[in-house]
Amino acid sequence: MLKASQTLEAAVDVVRVESTRQATMPEIITVTSGKGGVGKTNLAVNLGVLLRQRKQRVLMMDADLHLGKLDIILGASPQYTLADLVDGSRTIEEIIMSHPSGIDVLPATSGELNLLDADQRIMKVMAESFSRIQNNYDYIIVDTAAGISTTVLTMALGADKVILVITPEPASISDVYAMVKVISHKSPELPLILVPNRVKSLDDGLELHKKLNLITQKFLHTNLHYGGSVVEDGAVRQAIVRQRPFVLEFPKSQATYNLQLVCHRMLKLQPTQFSKRSNIFDRLRVKRKVVATLS
Ligand SMILES: Nc1ncnc2c1ncn2[C@@H]1O[C@H](COP(=O)(O)OP(=O)(O)OP(=O)(O)O)[C@@H](O)[C@H]1O
Ligand SMILES: [Mg+2]
Repeated sequence: MLKASQTLEAAVDVVRVESTRQATMPEIITVTSGKGGVGKTNLAVNLGVLLRQRKQRVLMMDADLHLGKLDIILGASPQYTLADLVDGSRTIEEIIMSHPSGIDVLPATSGELNLLDADQRIMKVMAESFSRIQNNYDYIIVDTAAGISTTVLTMALGADKVILVITPEPASISDVYAMVKVISHKSPELPLILVPNRVKSLDDGLELHKKLNLITQKFLHTNLHYGGSVVEDGAVRQAIVRQRPFVLEFPKSQATYNLQLVCHRMLKLQPTQFSKRSNIFDRLRVKRKVVATLS
């Protein structure tokens, strides 16, 4: 049995954790890849659900609404987007959509992220809105579009950790390399986590990481953390058809086990000490300027 002093210590610990949580900003995890169709949205959503299962408060920021995949995977279409915030018709709280899995979704199209360059009034509305909601979350997971656009880079550079999804195809490997090159040039401290997806075996994924990491270390002086691999699994495709996250629809599938390990590894990795952590919106604005200096 616990002694009273131990119980008190435990209670103090809980308060300490709670107060640290309130004092810190959410950790931003951006999921990107360079190449399209490699599984970013699937992994981002399901990772969000796994974090939720670990009692973390998660906001999914959909920076790729044009393709509408997030709706398909979650089986729910958003009513409003950030555009409704800007024209003053909705508050950010009204735009955020609560999904039955327990995660929240903020629909923000790639186009709307041009708002990072918008006028003072809009900037103020956005900054105030983000300040209001950001302490409601432990994690903000940003799902990006394919390619290395200004928006994608801004979202990557503004993150605490970047998950790079890669598949074992030459085009995916060269696109991830290109992405690492730009990110490491502008933010050498940013933790980059490689997650091989759709691999035949975990060994293949590990090997893919080993090979690419040797190359990035040699030519870019950049280390890629191994985030764990997710195998090619019919359960992922079937869950999409049923419009449910695969970790909920097929909790005993290989892909779910694999992603649980990815989640575990990601949580273990320390985020960079962003001088720390300013309002997410301000952060993105600063990074937007950094991206603008890229030639
Ligand atoms: N581990 C997996 N096993 C089987 N199929 C998978 C797996 N991961 C992804 N897929 C398939 O790949 C397709 C593309 O996934 P997803 O939409 O998440 O990719 P994306 O990188 O977000 O694409 P885009 O660049 O278009 O946004 C899914 O519809 C699914 O059929
Ligand atoms: Mg996608």
